[in-house]
Amino acid sequence: MTDKTNSKTPGLSRRSLLKAGFAAGAVAGTAGAARAAGDPLITEIQDWNRYLGDGVQARPYGTPSEYEANVVRRDVEWLTASTESSVNFTPLHELDGIITPNGLCFERHHGGIADINPADHRLMINGLVDSPLVFTMEDLKRFPRENRVYFLECAANSGMEWRGSQLNGCQYTHGMVHCVMYTGVPLKLILEEAGLKTNAKWVMPEGADASAMTRSIPMEKALDDCLVAFKMNGEALRPEQGYPLRLVVPGWEGNMWVKWLRRIEVGDEPWHQREETSKYTDLLENGKARRFTWVMDPKSVITSPSPQAPISHGKGPMVISGVAWSGNGRIKRVDVSLDGGRNWKTARLDGPSLSKAMHRFYLDIDWDGSDMLIQSRAMDEHGFFQPTKNELRAARGENSIYHNNGIQTWYVKADGMVENVEVS
Ligand code: MTE
Ligand code: CO
Repeated sequence: MTDKTNSKTPGLSRRSLLKAGFAAGAVAGTAGAARAAGDPLITEIQDWNRYLGDGVQARPYGTPSEYEANVVRRDVEWLTASTESSVNFTPLHELDGIITPNGLCFERHHGGIADINPADHRLMINGLVDSPLVFTMEDLKRFPRENRVYFLECAANSGMEWRGSQLNGCQYTHGMVHCVMYTGVPLKLILEEAGLKTNAKWVMPEGADASAMTRSIPMEKALDDCLVAFKMNGEALRPEQGYPLRLVVPGWEGNMWVKWLRRIEVGDEPWHQREETSKYTDLLENGKARRFTWVMDPKSVITSPSPQAPISHGKGPMVISGVAWSGNGRIKRVDVSLDGGRNWKTARLDGPSLSKAMHRFYLDIDWDGSDMLIQSRAMDEHGFFQPTKNELRAARGENSIYHNNGIQTWYVKADGMVENVEVS
């Protein structure tokens, strides 16, 4: 390159321009302008601006920039005994908008990731139907299909927080949730193809993985909005999300969204499987347990600032950002408190507002640099809202693991660092 303006050492005219810019910045008096004017990243031509970059074949399947290498799913080693029956968490603090990128959707497996060639995959419908059927993947793709955006939340999300604030980061406290667009066939169409007997009241999806996950789902839900899905965010399901086929059970606890879906039995009563008796039930103070608590109630969390996303810029204008969702439908309102729940401001919902999907909220504030106890509280279109953690404990005791939708508090310190705390 011979063009003088591309030379690394600025010419005279460039240097005087730089001086002028610096002076203008100083007069303007804002930190941003002063920094821009004296910044070699502005005044010097950088290598990436000077040399050709990689060609089109360098990344046949795109991956994020190397500078985003810290944006990954993470697990907590001591949480589970093995990696096959375990969980990792969505890095909520690094994301924006309402869609979770496929490679960052948290994973929860009870028997590892099944490795299935779609050509060998079958879905069987049996039980109380006129004609038991077996579908190949190709057969399923001949049914009319739909695209729908839904959140999936594991019932155990925030489960560690029942006994007080434990894990320092919304990735760990709230990261068992993701929200993607599914492409799939309404379960209703497949059941109708087999023909339901008059006493068909329940369905039991079963997984083709080593855990053979099985759950009972009432027929009203099966015929309402469940999907048999093969795509997420436009591409094939990821192996860890149930490739090649999973059940989508909008708004209901993640455990029912059977992955590697191989069979759906139709019956006249629930099956009382392990995952709906000894697990995914809530033991109350009086020794009784809540069962079949399918719907995920309204919930929200501030994703930034949060323990993994401290404030690095000092006082002044800033954006408080978070996500909210409800298994009942749309989120209608999210309130944010800066003082531990004494006063509330209504946050700004931004982006699509879709039923049983994640919603993005923002509160734009001018931070005076003092300590804050920040909280968010979601309300859905049916008027259900998030309780405080103490209200939850008063109602359900402290034996629970599942269905903790209590209000989360982050303690923001004057230096911008953030901690998971509880206010009483
Ligand atoms: N389906 C099968 N076949 N096996 C499993 O272990 N885990 C369930 C559910 N479906 C599971 C399954 C649980 S507990 C949850 S929370 C969701 O899948 C997690 O879905 P994800 O891994 O796509 O996030
Ligand atoms: Co789960």
